[in-house]
Amino acid sequence: MRALGQPDRTSLEIPLGFGGIRSPVLTTTAAIVLLALVQAAIFALTSLLDAVRSITQQLLQDKTTLAVQRMVMEQAASLDLSFFEDSASYDLLRRAREDTATRPVMLVSGVFGLIQTTIVFASMITLLVALGPVLALIGLVSPIPAFVAGTRYGWLGYSLSRWAAPLQRRMQYLMALVTTDTYAKEVKLFGLGRYFVGRFGLIAGAYYGRERRFITARYLAGFLWGSITTIAGGLTYLYVALLAVAGRLTLGDVGLYTQAAASVQNSIRGILGDLSGMYEHNLYLSNLFELLATPGRIRSSINPRPLPRPLRGEVEFQHVWFRYPSLDVFAVRDLSFRVAAGETIAVVGRNGAGKTTVIKLLCRLYDPTRGRILLDGIDIRELDVDELRGAIAGMFQDYVAYQATAAENVGLGNLDDLDDRARIEAAARKGGAHHLIAGLRRGYDTPLGTWFDHGAQLSGGEWQRVALSRAFMRDARLLVLDEPTSTLDAQAEYELFERLRRLTEGRTAIYISHRFSTVRRADRIVVIERGRAVEEGSHEVLMALAGRYSRLFDMQASAYTGKAVKLWP
Ligand SMILES: Nc1ncnc2c1ncn2[C@@H]1O[C@H](COP(=O)(O)OP(=O)(O)OP(=O)(O)O)[C@@H](O)[C@H]1O
Ligand SMILES: [Mg+2]
Repeated sequence: MRALGQPDRTSLEIPLGFGGIRSPVLTTTAAIVLLALVQAAIFALTSLLDAVRSITQQLLQDKTTLAVQRMVMEQAASLDLSFFEDSASYDLLRRAREDTATRPVMLVSGVFGLIQTTIVFASMITLLVALGPVLALIGLVSPIPAFVAGTRYGWLGYSLSRWAAPLQRRMQYLMALVTTDTYAKEVKLFGLGRYFVGRFGLIAGAYYGRERRFITARYLAGFLWGSITTIAGGLTYLYVALLAVAGRLTLGDVGLYTQAAASVQNSIRGILGDLSGMYEHNLYLSNLFELLATPGRIRSSINPRPLPRPLRGEVEFQHVWFRYPSLDVFAVRDLSFRVAAGETIAVVGRNGAGKTTVIKLLCRLYDPTRGRILLDGIDIRELDVDELRGAIAGMFQDYVAYQATAAENVGLGNLDDLDDRARIEAAARKGGAHHLIAGLRRGYDTPLGTWFDHGAQLSGGEWQRVALSRAFMRDARLLVLDEPTSTLDAQAEYELFERLRRLTEGRTAIYISHRFSTVRRADRIVVIERGRAVEEGSHEVLMALAGRYSRLFDMQASAYTGKAVKLWP
């Protein structure tokens, strides 16, 4: 007995087992059943392949989007602070993050599409050239205008998205103003909700108007230029039909001609469409490449000098000048002062004098325009940046309130000890946050902030204590505190400065404060005015000098005692 569907048989027969009698009806039925089965199998396979394609495409898309976001984050983490202080950078970041995510996969599928269409095109054009060179030429040329228009509109679309980036960022900002807890209080108090929504509407209107004009123009132009291809197609059919009428083509030829001509036209249109699509994807991807190519200017020198061990912690500013890239005037001008190892100095001065800038320069968040900053006699630009920052513990004026657990909020001050609860607790005691945290619902495991996990919200001063505790996670040689007590109550401030003597033991400490009760406890005080050190010495020395410090001090004291002070000598 032979198996069903053996290849060497011309017709299919089903053996019935009655002495070799075969029924032609049954043979035909069997053939049909078999064909139906084969077709069903092909259908099943096609839908399976479709499903597989959807799965891979979707996963590839998601994976690429996540990879792009991760690349953007990694690059952003390695960029200088000054990069983030420029609105153009935010636009670039937004474009790199949002406009490019889907492009790589689209580009890849464009390439595959191109290969596929090129194969069809190559086989059909050979056929068509042989059949009728004029038809081949028409098929080749007619889609070109649509391609040129498509490419031009691709570029215009990209320009539009660049133009819209600042608008979209402003809209996101307005949206955040009315949807984020930190802003909500003030927005409600001043009744700004409607105003911001109105502003959003105005910007959205401008954006939408331009987008609408562009989209209408793009698709109408696509239609108009595409009509050339359609007309050419129609003329081809007419030409072939006339040839048939004239008896120069058989009916079979007509079918072949028109099929080949349509196929060539379609494939050339597909190829050109893929090319202009790839051009457009590439334009958008250039945002990502532009971001990735942005260099961090503040980096370690090629051969960084090792940090001296043990580090004494002597800091010296030598004729330091510094100008913010966005500012015309110097924020720090010819600033020179020295902090001996283990000394505690206070930096005072009016708002905008340049105090915070001094701290930022010491942490090498910027490099001085002129002059040098020395740590133990070494220019900090010669040190490894990470090593330098690792030697500094501190708190900035605008410290961060992390939406994370209390333990993490403190522990983030030293990643290596993020899981060391004993150490975190010790740091919290130093920063004055231990009792506060211990009293929370889940102690150190309580999430802080209300963005995730039903966290606990802290008061302004409580957040500052947590930030201060974070600074004490590091056993660093240098301690820099920018207004560490600005929101602390009188008792907390008093206690902190009682502790500070002990906490700064064996460390060099620089702190900035507007509260003279705190400032006077420092070993030495540096008074900064318009970026320059104008007075320097202990509290007693500076009071005896009867200069700016004593005047500022008296002014603050008078607020408590009610005694009038002469503002200007
Ligand atoms: N990121 C920045 N970009 C541009 N200019 C800045 C930047 N930060 C500060 N400035 C400018 O530099 C000057 C000094 O600012 P700085 O923050 O050092 O003052 P400050 O002494 O700390 O003041 P405050 O007592 O208010 O904290 C100010 O005039 C300010 O306008
Ligand atoms: Mg400041």
